[in-house]
Amino acid sequence: MSHSYAKRTDAIAPFHVMAILAEAKQLEAQGQDIIHMEVGEPDFTTPSPITEAGIKSLEAGKTHYTPALGLAELRQAIANWYQHRYKVAISSERVVVTPGASGALLLVMGALLEKGKKVMLADPGYPCNKHFAKFVEGQVNSIAVDASSQYQLSAHHVENYWDADTSMALVASPSNPTGTVLTKAELIALANAVKSKSGHLVVDEIYHGLTYDGFDAPSALQVDDQAFVINSFSKFFGMTGWRLGWLIVPEGYTEVMDRLAQNLYLAAPTMSQYAALAAFQQNTLDILEQRRHLFEQRRNILLPLVKELGFKVPITPQGAFYLYADCSALLNDKTPDSMALSKHLLYQAGVAITPGLDFGQYQAEQHCRFAYTTDESRLIEAMERIRKVL
Ligand SMILES: Cc1ncc(COP(=O)(O)O)c(C=O)c1O
Repeated sequence: MSHSYAKRTDAIAPFHVMAILAEAKQLEAQGQDIIHMEVGEPDFTTPSPITEAGIKSLEAGKTHYTPALGLAELRQAIANWYQHRYKVAISSERVVVTPGASGALLLVMGALLEKGKKVMLADPGYPCNKHFAKFVEGQVNSIAVDASSQYQLSAHHVENYWDADTSMALVASPSNPTGTVLTKAELIALANAVKSKSGHLVVDEIYHGLTYDGFDAPSALQVDDQAFVINSFSKFFGMTGWRLGWLIVPEGYTEVMDRLAQNLYLAAPTMSQYAALAAFQQNTLDILEQRRHLFEQRRNILLPLVKELGFKVPITPQGAFYLYADCSALLNDKTPDSMALSKHLLYQAGVAITPGLDFGQYQAEQHCRFAYTTDESRLIEAMERIRKVL
C-alpha cells in the first residue's frame, strides 16, 4: 500500500544524530562500550523531592485533566519564581503551563506566525525551531552567526536582515548548541531593534539555571514586558521525561494561548504539574545547585582537552551543557566533514557526538557538538580514546 502524507511534513527533517544513535545502539548490542556525548539531557535523574511529590499526587487520585493553562498553584509558583530569581513581578495570569518547552514553541508559533511570514532564527540553533515554523506554514529568516556575535542574533542582525515578511525573532540564551548567553545590554538592544520593526521577540530560556563562572543569565522579562519567554522543567530541573514547561506571555495573550492549548493537547500532564510544585523548594534547589556545579566542573575539564585534540572553541560557553567545536583542522580525505568525522569517532573510538548539520547549514560541516551529560571520568576517557584515533 502506498502512503501519502501532507506536503507540510516534507519540511520536517529527522535529527541527523539519530543515525549516529542507531549505529551506536547496534555497536552496543555487539558488546562495544560507547561513551555518549550526543545526548541533550542531564544524566542525573529527577531530584527526589519532585519525584515524591509526583507519586503522592498519583496516590491521592490526582489523575484527571487540569485547566488547559495549567494548575493555578503551579502558575502562581512560576510567577513567584520570577520574583525570587529575577526580581520581576509577573501576574500568574501571564503564565501558561505547557508540555515541555516544545509545547510552548508550538503555541508561540501557532499564535504569532502568520502563514507565509518569517521567523528570524540564528544558524546554528535548536533544530526544531525551523520545523515548528514550517509546521504552521511559516518560513524562516535564517541568519548565519559566528563567534563575532557570540553565535547569537544581535540588534545588528535585526537592523540589517529583517525583511517585509519577517514578523518575529526567536533566540535561545543560553543557546543550544553553543552555550553562549545574551547579556542584559544585548537583550535590551535586541528587544528595541525588534520593537522598531513592530515584531515579536521570543526568548527560549530553557537552559537558565545552568550558567557558570558566577554568571547569571538575565531573563528577557527583566528588560521587556512584551517579550514571550519560554522555559521548561526539562534541563535545570532534570525533568525531561515528565514533559513539562511554561510560557510567559505579555498581557492580553493568555486567552489565545488558552484556546490553542485546549485544542492542541488539552493540558500538560497532571502528575508532572503536581511534581513540579516541589521544584522550587529549597531542598530541591540545593540538589540542583550541586548538579550545576558538577556541570561547570565538567565543562572546565572538557574544554581544554577538546582544544588539545585540535578542535577550536573560540568562545568559552557560559551555559547549557554543550561545546560547539570547529573541527576543520581535523578533516581530511577520509573524514571530509563533521558527519564523517562523527561516524569515524563512533566506530573507531566508541564516542558518540552530534554533527553540526543538526543545527543548521552555516559551516555545519566544520562543526560538531559535544554534550557533557556524562560523568567526568567518562569525559576524560572519551577524549583519550579520540586522541588515540586522531
Ligand atoms: C533550546 C531548546 N529549546 C527547547 C527544547 C525542548 O525541550 P523540552 O520540550 O524538553 O522542554 C530543547 C531540547 O533540547 C532545547 O535545546
